[in-house]
Amino acid sequence: MSFTADRLLLFGATGDLSQRMLLPSLCALHADKLVADKVSIVGTARSDMDDTGFRNFAHDALNKFLPEHRKPAINSFLKRLTYQTLDANETAHYTALAGKVRPGGEGLAIFLSTAPSLFESTIAGLQASGLAGPKTRIGLEKPLGTSLETSRHINDAVARAFSEDRIFRIDHYLGKETVQNLLALRFANILFEPIWNAAHIEHVQITVGETVGLEGRVGFYDGAGALRDMVQNHMLQLLALVAMEPPAHYDATSVRDEKVKVLRSLRTVAAAETVRGQYGAGAIAGNAVPAYAEELGKASDTETFVAIKAHIDNWRWKGVPFYLRTGKRMTRRVTEIMIQFRPIPHSIFGGKGAHPVPNRLVIGIQPEENITVSLMAKVPGLDRGGISLREVPLDIAMDDAFAGPTRRIAYERLLLDLIEGDQTLFVRRDEVEAQWEWIDGVRDTWTENAIQPKSYFAGSWGPAAAVALAERDGVTWHEQG
Ligand code: BG6
Repeated sequence: MSFTADRLLLFGATGDLSQRMLLPSLCALHADKLVADKVSIVGTARSDMDDTGFRNFAHDALNKFLPEHRKPAINSFLKRLTYQTLDANETAHYTALAGKVRPGGEGLAIFLSTAPSLFESTIAGLQASGLAGPKTRIGLEKPLGTSLETSRHINDAVARAFSEDRIFRIDHYLGKETVQNLLALRFANILFEPIWNAAHIEHVQITVGETVGLEGRVGFYDGAGALRDMVQNHMLQLLALVAMEPPAHYDATSVRDEKVKVLRSLRTVAAAETVRGQYGAGAIAGNAVPAYAEELGKASDTETFVAIKAHIDNWRWKGVPFYLRTGKRMTRRVTEIMIQFRPIPHSIFGGKGAHPVPNRLVIGIQPEENITVSLMAKVPGLDRGGISLREVPLDIAMDDAFAGPTRRIAYERLLLDLIEGDQTLFVRRDEVEAQWEWIDGVRDTWTENAIQPKSYFAGSWGPAAAVALAERDGVTWHEQG
């Protein structure tokens, strides 16, 4: 049902995500008048506070996390906020919440960023208090389970109260500008699509490197690990966008139909095609950082790094490996996709300096947003000994190309889409389940082969085995430190 919500209900309103991302994003949307004045925001969490207490809390968070030019909007934004203390397991608390949320109205958008263990009781409470009606949609933050089975359990619980067209599963990578730009690059240009296949692409690399470590998320991260924290969601979504067939339209059904086909075509991974790592002590940008086990306070066999050679078993990608790599405490923070094209079929140049290097397309997602195509060009000169060729980059920095428009953080877009009801950038149930199915396969392989994380130095690009994984195929990782 199409409606624009006039009320937003935030579960986990005092949490880290809310402080860093949700409240700042909502304030930015407010500052730019992108949400109607009538949209009220109710925060809820366990902390005992009244409306004023929550406004003070939000004020502090906004002061800390909003860029300076946004701060003048804080005071008027705070007027939208109210608060209701809630213990997710206390049915009676939902009645008070329902009163706060104002029954009736045009529609309600709920954003759940609480521990998944609370999802079921929260949904039951929402249903019992009449807050889950046909004019309510719900946004769900990850993690949505830890396996196919547990994710199905969560999805079933949500489906008992909400139809799929009212469920908005968040993968914040889909809210990133450059991730969406991938679709523009592929489908708004004639240049790439004819060669976007196994005949012309030799392999693809997707790297998500982070310099941060555990960041105090002891309870969550150690139970998850890099495979479930980063590959299951963000990296597989990037892979699906790179590999999918052209959707007929840019809408939720068409785009998600194509992504899920790719996810279902992923081949079960063999043990030799994966590397698990865990960072030891090291240094990043000249600063010493402790080992994972030291940050955690105990030994652990959780991986903080994963490299996988993935295969998509369909016509377009037959024989084209997708090398995926992500880790904490890497040399640099970088998210990028690299498309390695095949060599030209025949070189007409015979001179000593004339070795055409196969073209490469690098899509930088963060921290810099840029698109670089490496091309061969002739080195200027008289070429008495034959023509000389050199690789030169054709480089588009998105910041320079679009200096005017405001660059928005992922949650600004996702929250607006949730309020307005556009599901294109949210993950459908069949996608999440296909992602989990493949990830469960990787974990089974690890268990069957007793694969333990290999240590790597903090500040490096992961264990040597990750380099070997690519080098066995004559491939070098694009970011090699
Ligand atoms: C989250 C993970 O989903 O994504 C974190 O739980 C990770 O571990 C984060 O740090 C990375 O997001 P971004 O936007 O900084 O790349």
